Amino acid sequence: MHKRYEIALRCGVSRTELDEAEVGTVRSDGRGQEPYLVHAVNGIEYRTKISTLRGDYRREDGTTGNRLRLWDRDDFAPLSDDVFWDRPYAIHWKRRKGNSKKEEFEFRAVTGGDLARESTIDDLVTQKIADWQANGWIPDMRIEPGDKTDELIRTRGWTFWHHLFPPRHLLLLALMRSRVTDARTALLFARVLDYTSKLCRWTTSSAGSSGQGAGKRTGGASDNPSNVFYNQALNTFFNYGCRSSSEILELFSKPLPNSQIFRQANVVNMSASEFDATNDIYITDPPYGDAVKYEEILEFFIAWLRKNLPPEFAGWVWDSRRSLAIQGDDEAFRRGMVAAYRRMAELMPDNGIQVIMFTHQSGAIWADMANIVWASSLRVTAAWYVVTETDSALREAAT
Ligand SMILES: C[S@@+](CC[C@H](N)C(=O)[O-])C[C@H]1O[C@@H](n2cnc3c(N)ncnc32)[C@H](O)[C@@H]1O
Repeated sequence: MHKRYEIALRCGVSRTELDEAEVGTVRSDGRGQEPYLVHAVNGIEYRTKISTLRGDYRREDGTTGNRLRLWDRDDFAPLSDDVFWDRPYAIHWKRRKGNSKKEEFEFRAVTGGDLARESTIDDLVTQKIADWQANGWIPDMRIEPGDKTDELIRTRGWTFWHHLFPPRHLLLLALMRSRVTDARTALLFARVLDYTSKLCRWTTSSAGSSGQGAGKRTGGASDNPSNVFYNQALNTFFNYGCRSSSEILELFSKPLPNSQIFRQANVVNMSASEFDATNDIYITDPPYGDAVKYEEILEFFIAWLRKNLPPEFAGWVWDSRRSLAIQGDDEAFRRGMVAAYRRMAELMPDNGIQVIMFTHQSGAIWADMANIVWASSLRVTAAWYVVTETDSALREAAT
């Protein structure tokens, strides 16, 4: 008794069947409640909370623990007695359409041959993982607990950054990483990372690149794994998408976009309150109100890039330096911001300018921002109102 389903793939089903299937087997009532696993056996529907599967329990200190095994440094896949496993459930094939440049696509069920290939990959990764980690080709960095990183540990038991990547990508990424020899290939590699983790959600429509679970169908198909940072969080999924090697290699070779803003730049990595060069103009885009935990999500890249790097990065500190980040929306936030802006004000001439990019819906945070500017001995001389919503978000709102 394996206590699991065989997954069959059906094509050409009716609209009604598709709508019924679209609700999926992991459902939530949309009110921020824990999702349920829903399935029917002999016509009887069973619902089990995901938190029950995980074995959530209350600790004496009031916090919530669970019975997931915490993965180890040399783990890269679930062990047989882990609660959550993963397996391929469908393969999206593509081929050229006749002689044209267009491609046609088809989903096929997973075959014994596919599973054998996965197993070859597992064997290779098992043999090589320790060497790759020693060379800095795949991460051996722990996931430090934090607001955003806790989800990885709590909902999956992942404790090192390479746990976020499926074995077939670990193999490809280790080979690519061994060929990162200059700043350009390092940046291309970072782009590839964004498309290769288990945090890449399978998107099923042009509007489906946000939120958990199946995408809302709005017409126009686009079956693709999205990137990790379609939002600025680290979301785990039950059905992640895994890109083919050929598409990943394309990402690695596609040129990086050229910046229209500057031709020559000096990238200096330091706290704004310790800045030490005089400038006529400062343009800043400060953090505010804990909107995004940059200092945590950045570790996703640091884990892969910190060792064995090209000489261009010799002076960089490969640590997110969480303690230096201006955070929150309380007194510490205000103090940190004033220290940063006062420092920059000291470092500019009397007729210098500071341009501050600031977006927030909260009036209270706007009031804080005004106080911060005054307390830094700056004077507001102009304000521009800029619509910052992305094109797709505007379209979605309009429909
Ligand atoms: C709103 S984001 C800027 C995003 C950036 N403009 C972009 O498009 O990617 C705010 C940035 O301020 C950085 N930050 C936080 N505390 C800082 C400090 N004390 N000194 C300098 N930068 C800081 C954060 O790490 C984050 O990268």
